[in-house]
Amino acid sequence: MGILTQPAGDVDYARFGKGYARQRRTDPSIAALIHAALGPAHTVLNVGAGAGSYEPTDRAVVAVEPSEAMLAQRGADRSPALRAVAGALPFTDDAVDAAMATVTIHQWPDPVAGIAEMRRVTTGPVVILTFEPGALDRLWLVDYAPDLIEIESRRYPTIATLVEALGGGTTVHPVAVPFDCPDGFTEAFYGRPEAFLDPEVRRSQSAWTLVDRAAERRAVESLAADLGSGRWDERHGHLRTQAFFDSAVRLIVSR
Ligand SMILES: C[S@@+](CC[C@H](N)C(=O)[O-])C[C@H]1O[C@@H](n2cnc3c(N)ncnc32)[C@H](O)[C@@H]1O
Repeated sequence: MGILTQPAGDVDYARFGKGYARQRRTDPSIAALIHAALGPAHTVLNVGAGAGSYEPTDRAVVAVEPSEAMLAQRGADRSPALRAVAGALPFTDDAVDAAMATVTIHQWPDPVAGIAEMRRVTTGPVVILTFEPGALDRLWLVDYAPDLIEIESRRYPTIATLVEALGGGTTVHPVAVPFDCPDGFTEAFYGRPEAFLDPEVRRSQSAWTLVDRAAERRAVESLAADLGSGRWDERHGHLRTQAFFDSAVRLIVSR
């Protein structure tokens, strides 16, 4: 494969990815679900691996990641990573026991082709953590940033598309997001609305990079105003003490 001179997905992590590893850390409860779904696999491929969140540490992992800026954020203790894309995995058929892809397939130019590649190189489970596009408007953020939710809903492949691509024996599991989720995707802050006022939090949520700057400013100003006036708390204050959020996050497991 030639050198990647353009972003492989719909986000330029060379511009926007610098603080990713700080803001987007493994959530232990989601990691436990992923690791259980990988079963007894000894060798695991992580596609669209980014800085390495959710990679198991008790098995041999090889990562695939196209962005240099993301590869640079992989800690020294992380597994080896290859600079490549999901649509052309540099492995022979049946090369690994299991494969995973977390919060990445929505950025691939052709998720179905990427999934076919994951299936080709894997003998056992293929495990995908993604979002149900039709459920993204459950988060109150839709009232402040409707453009962002709209863009996100169009970005994510439907769960039905993914299940069809993965074939028979595929199961879909809803994932409850915990209150203190350290993986800073938008729903992680369902009960901590002040987080959205922090530009570094927003920069590590790729959807904001696809939204008009004026729309982003409007969203932040109106959220700040509602937090100041108490209006947000009147409507959503119960979320500040709610342990889990019935989110759009889904774990898809093909065996
Ligand atoms: C939101 S990050 C998720 C990273 C990591 N999996 C995680 O859970 O933190 C999305 C990643 O997908 C990668 N990506 C984008 N397009 C890709 C493609 N065509 N093939 C493989 N990875 C891709 C990006 O470079 C980025 O690192």
